[in-house]
Amino acid sequence: MAAAVADCEVNDESNDNGNDPGAAPYGNFQNYYTFNPPENRLSLIPSTLLQEIGCSTESSETILVLDVGCNSGDLSLALYKHLQGHHSQTGELRLLGVDLDEDLILRAEQSNPFRENISFIPLDITHDLDSRTQLESYLARFGRSRFNLCACLAVTMWVHLNHGDAALLELLSRLASLSDHLLLEAQPWKCYRSAARRMRKLGRRDFDHFKTLEIRGDIAKYAKKHLERRCGMGLLRSFGRTTWGRKLLLFGKREMRQGEI
Ligand SMILES: C[S@@+](CC[C@H](N)C(=O)[O-])C[C@H]1O[C@@H](n2cnc3c(N)ncnc32)[C@H](O)[C@@H]1O
Repeated sequence: MAAAVADCEVNDESNDNGNDPGAAPYGNFQNYYTFNPPENRLSLIPSTLLQEIGCSTESSETILVLDVGCNSGDLSLALYKHLQGHHSQTGELRLLGVDLDEDLILRAEQSNPFRENISFIPLDITHDLDSRTQLESYLARFGRSRFNLCACLAVTMWVHLNHGDAALLELLSRLASLSDHLLLEAQPWKCYRSAARRMRKLGRRDFDHFKTLEIRGDIAKYAKKHLERRCGMGLLRSFGRTTWGRKLLLFGKREMRQGEI
C-alpha cells in the first residue's frame, strides 16, 4: 500500500519527520522544503514561461519577478534557475523574494549564490504602506512601476486565516496592481481545517478569523472571480495540479490576455 500522501503543509504526515516545524502560525515553517520540495511545483511550470507571458527574447529589458512569501528561498532560487535557462540570451532576470519571517529571509540571503540578481527582504505583504514603499523602491531601481511576474505560492491561506476575508481580497488586489502576471497557488479549504486542527493540537490560540470566514469552499474559484471582476486580470493558463492536488494558475492583465483555458 502506498504511504500516506501529504496534501497540506499542515498535515501531521508532512511534518512528522523528526524535525518539529513549530507552530508556524503564518506558514513560516523552518523546514518547509523538506516536505514540499521546489520540484513539486516547478515540474508544472514551463521553463519558457517568460516568453509565454511576452517577455520578448528580442528585448534587452530587465525581467522582474516577485516571489511573495518566499520562506527560506529554496523555491525562489529554483524558479530563478528554471526561468533563466530559457532566458539567457535576453535582458537580465531579477528576482525579489519577500517574507514576513526575518530568520527565513536571513537564511535565504545566506544561501543565495546569485546576489547580483536575486534579493531577499523581510516584508509583511499585508502592510499596505510598508510593502508599497519597499516594493516601489525596488522597482524604481529599474525605472519600472510593475513586476513582469509575481509568484504567490501557498501563501493565501495564511493571510486569510490570520487577517480575514478582506485581507485575502486586498492581497490579490495588491499583487494584481504590482505585477502584469500572477502565478497563484491557493491552498484549498481542507488545508484551512488541517491548519486550525493543528493549532488546537499544539495548544495554540485559534486563528483569529477561521470561524468567521465567509470566503470558504473553493478558494481558487473565489480568487479567480476577484481577480477577474475587481483587478482587471484574466486566467491565462492552468498548469494542472501539484502533487498536493492544488491548482497552479497563471493570470494576466486583461489587455495581455491571449485566451482563456
Ligand atoms: C507555506 S510557505 C510557502 C513558501 C513558498 N511560497 C513556497 O510555496 O514554496 C508560506 C510562506 O508565506 C509567508 N507569509 C505568510 N504571510 C505572509 C505575509 N503577510 N507577508 C509575507 N510573507 C508571508 C510565511 O512566512 C511562509 O514562509
